[in-house]
Amino acid sequence: MKTFVALALLSLVCVEGWLFNDDAEWNDLKVTWGLNQLFSSTVFDSLPRTESDALADGWVDFSRGASCDGDYYRGSRYIKDNDPAVMLLFDDNGFIAGIQMGARITELPAGIPAAQVMNMWNYDGDMVVITAYFQEPASVCTGRSDAHFTLHGTGVGLYLQNGPTPETDYELIPRDEVDIGATAWTKGGCFYTMGQHYWYNTSASMDCDDFFPVFLLYNSGRLNGFGFDINADLNSPRYEKPALESLSAFFQDQDTPACFAQSIQKGLTTIHIYMDDSPSFNFC
Ligand SMILES: *[C@@H]1O[C@H](CO)[C@@H](O)[C@H](O)[C@H]1NC(C)=O
Repeated sequence: MKTFVALALLSLVCVEGWLFNDDAEWNDLKVTWGLNQLFSSTVFDSLPRTESDALADGWVDFSRGASCDGDYYRGSRYIKDNDPAVMLLFDDNGFIAGIQMGARITELPAGIPAAQVMNMWNYDGDMVVITAYFQEPASVCTGRSDAHFTLHGTGVGLYLQNGPTPETDYELIPRDEVDIGATAWTKGGCFYTMGQHYWYNTSASMDCDDFFPVFLLYNSGRLNGFGFDINADLNSPRYEKPALESLSAFFQDQDTPACFAQSIQKGLTTIHIYMDDSPSFNFC
């Protein structure tokens, strides 16, 4: 606990930075949770939100010949260091539209992703890929205006793609935590600097093959992040490997899936994604 307080205080030194950022609620796009954010370049790494910034930062086009609406996802896709752990989607005007995680099939154990959650993944050459958008998928190939980007920042909502057709196969996640209570999402654990987790339809007796590959993060009652997970030991500096001791950060005790400890032992990969610039202030 002392570590978190110390980190929060240290972060205050940088507070000036965010006061001068744009005022959008989703004013950043950061990936990878970790405790050593001051010393690690991958922890809470801020990703480019325009195509021009991405190009300047070493991201390269990874559309593999597909046009904006040419495949199971929408947008121009970019990758960095040939690492599919994080791929960025930009709309037709070069503004951030979404994010993907790809897993190379050769690196996956047999039967992963399980059939029960395969609707969330799409085959993409040598990978399976999961996709989330920050604007309505049908609008990506039109693109946002400068004014829209200034006003809404990273986007207007979290749209989880759950099938092969982006325009129709998605779930829009409520921005307010009060509205997630009425759904099958289950309130999980709270962890300072991570936030209040929600998992899809988890329970103590569930089968971990059903473990949904997306989780949500609310802070101060508002959606400010989410994450992907997969039952595989994938290799990327962007990925997190939850330890057994971290279960209470993820779940409420009585709801901790009994199978989850075994998932961790077999290899579980997660990645936290934040749409604002101050995840170190995530006090749930
Ligand atoms: C939730 O999970 C249970 C099994 O643990 C299943 O029977 C039920 O259909 C699921 N509900 C939804 C909405 O997915």
